[in-house]
Parts: sequence; C-alpha cells; structure tokens
Amino acid sequence: MIIKSAEFIKSSTNYQQCPTKELPEYAFIGRSNVGKSSLINKMCNRAKLAKTSSTPGKTQLINHFLINEEWYLVDLPGYGYAKMPIKLKQKMEKMISQYLLNRKNLLNIFVLLDSRHKPQQIDLDFMMNLAESQLAFSIIFTKADKNKKRELQNNMEHYKKTLLESWEELPPCFITSSETGLGNEEILYSITQMNKLIE
Ligand code: GTP
Ligand code: MG
Repeated sequence: MIIKSAEFIKSSTNYQQCPTKELPEYAFIGRSNVGKSSLINKMCNRAKLAKTSSTPGKTQLINHFLINEEWYLVDLPGYGYAKMPIKLKQKMEKMISQYLLNRKNLLNIFVLLDSRHKPQQIDLDFMMNLAESQLAFSIIFTKADKNKKRELQNNMEHYKKTLLESWEELPPCFITSSETGLGNEEILYSITQMNKLIE
C-alpha cells in the first residue's frame, strides 16, 4: 500500500469521544517508549505526525490519524511506565482497556515489543487479556536496528518459543525499525488485506 495522505484527526480522552466515521481502524499499543509513535511516523513517512520522545510517557491520549482517507491508525499511550503517578497510570490503563473493548470498528491491535528484550510478564499478560476478550492482535518487534543480526535472530526465536508455551499458534509477527523502515511494507500489506475483508 502506498500512503498518499496521513492526517491527524483528533486526540480523545475516552472511546466515546473518538471519531464517529465507521472506518476500519488499527491501534498501536505496547509499553511506554517501545516505539509506537515513531513507527507510525515512519510508516506514514511523516517525521512529526505523532509526537515522540526519548522519555517514556509521551503519548497520553487516544490519537486518531486518517490514512488515505480510508482507514484510521491509532496511537495509544504506553502501559507499564513505573515512574508515572499511580492515579494517572490507572486512569490511562482504564482509558486504553475501555477503548479496546468498546471500539466497534477496531479491526486489529498491533502489540509492540522491544526486539532487544526478553519476554516480559506485563506484555504476555496483556496479550493473554486480549485473547480472553477475543480481540484480534498481531505482534510488532521494534528497534531491530539496535540489535546485532545474530542477537536479533536469537531474541526472536526465544520470544516465539515462550509464546508457544501458552499458545497453540503464533499471531502474525513483524520485525521493524523506525530508523531503516524495515518491516513497514509488511505491516501495510497486512492492513490492506484486512481492509479488503470488510469491504
Ligand atoms: P510513549 O508514547 O511514551 O508510550 O512511547 P512510544 O512507544 O510512542 O515511543 P516513541 O515512538 O516516542 O519512541 C521512544 C524512543 O525510542 C525515541 O527516542 C525514539 O527515537 C526511539 N525509537 C523508536 N523506534 C526506534 C527504532 O526503530 N530504532 C531506534 N534506534 N530508535 C527508536
Ligand atoms: Mg508515543
């Protein structure tokens, strides 16, 4: 898919405020600082579309971007940022889970995981909760450029093995870099296919 247009639509504090047009929608979620906003910018080829930061906790609202005037890409706040005040953390987690559970046009959730890290319980639990709520998701391993090639392969194998301890099948998995653009086309292709399913 070629991205012809990418437009910021709005930031919402709850799912009720989200855009009312019933277009196919895809959300990026994952721990704070994993690279959600950066990947959105790289995929859309627009450096400043979504706000990024080297400090975790940058994205705090539900941000809708309209792509090719056909579908929405949603940048969500990260979970699991330890230094955030507990009240704010709880509020954001509630906002995210309410959005995920109630947004009717949300076709797929992309769960972002840092390709450098070993499987973390918080991410495994998050994916388990999605499955229990019957929400479709894919995995995106981020920051591939920060690994040596061999290291990346080992980490991916280890991660997939861990997942297969509790899952019969792996969800679709993508390996990406917002520096090099690795994996971006594959993600856009999978979105194209999902868009077609509901046409
Ligand atoms: P929150 O909004 O705080 O939850 O973070 P986020 O997941 O949106 O992360 P963000 O895109 O803001 O990126 C966090 C930091 O990681 C920034 O300093 C980015 O430049 C860096 N980063 C993100 N993706 C990549 C990548 O693929 N490669 C490298 N080398 N750095 C990356
Ligand atoms: Mg962000």
